[in-house]
Amino acid sequence: MKCVRCKQKAKILLKRHNAAFCNECFLYYYRNQVTKNIRKYKMFDKKDKILAVISGGKDSMALWDVLVKEGYNVVAMYINLGIGEYSNRSQKVVESFASKNNLPLIVKDIKKEFGLDIYKLSKTLKRSPCSICGSIKRYLFNKVAYDGGFSAVATGHNLDDEAATLLGNVLSWEEGYLARQAPVLPQTHPKLIKKVKPLYSLTERENLYYVLLNKIEFLHEECPHSVGARSILFKEVLNKLEEESPGTKQRFLNGFLEKGRRHFQDVSEKLELRECKTCGQVTTTEECSFCRFVKICNHQQET
Ligand code: FES
Ligand code: ZN
Repeated sequence: MKCVRCKQKAKILLKRHNAAFCNECFLYYYRNQVTKNIRKYKMFDKKDKILAVISGGKDSMALWDVLVKEGYNVVAMYINLGIGEYSNRSQKVVESFASKNNLPLIVKDIKKEFGLDIYKLSKTLKRSPCSICGSIKRYLFNKVAYDGGFSAVATGHNLDDEAATLLGNVLSWEEGYLARQAPVLPQTHPKLIKKVKPLYSLTERENLYYVLLNKIEFLHEECPHSVGARSILFKEVLNKLEEESPGTKQRFLNGFLEKGRRHFQDVSEKLELRECKTCGQVTTTEECSFCRFVKICNHQQET
């Protein structure tokens, strides 16, 4: 097996592209894919200030490193969500990468800073810890980006994530989510910062190769709450299809982005946005869920 670029011995086979690469050419291919995605969807350019969402896992660590190496103006942000030792371990990984490479990093701790506890909230509101965690993360990343004058919030979502989310949304015909699933979520309100996914066309496996080849430390374990999540089942189903027919995930996602998504556009335009009466951030209700969470947790502490 020869590398398609330099004709030396190949080490990495990418069946969906019917291509193989040596280590060096794989890194070239990877970085090229990322910059192509950024340009294709006009995500940002070198003048923009980007806030990168970093969890310490392979995908976000790859995102951080590749954006820095490509010369983008990127500040990383990590949120400690109070998920026991998992959170502490991931915070260490992120902080050590930032200090080793002298990179700017913003760290938020939801318990220390806002008194939030996702387990208490999950019990009180009878919602899964993941859905509480998701709302908190979306709120804080947007708020920090807005307050800090950032042009975009970048996340490490990969092809496997995006294809699994799409499958889940199609299976239950979630029109609103389908309307908003894209590599770029444009700014629909002055206080809602653009969201971008520069790795949307790269697989989990490719991100893993990228961090391993670059000797980047990352947290190998997944969040304990992801066990049994439906998204994992969807990923397994798609992996089976991919094995039988390489390129399935890519065709599924790209086909949706190119042909399917536009049919859902009018659904998202109907969402009425307003500003939270307590904090002023954008929400669809009178008070945003973050402010309600803070009240619930602080009230519980007093009683
Ligand atoms: Fe949020 Fe797992 S990362 S619940
Ligand atoms: Zn609020």
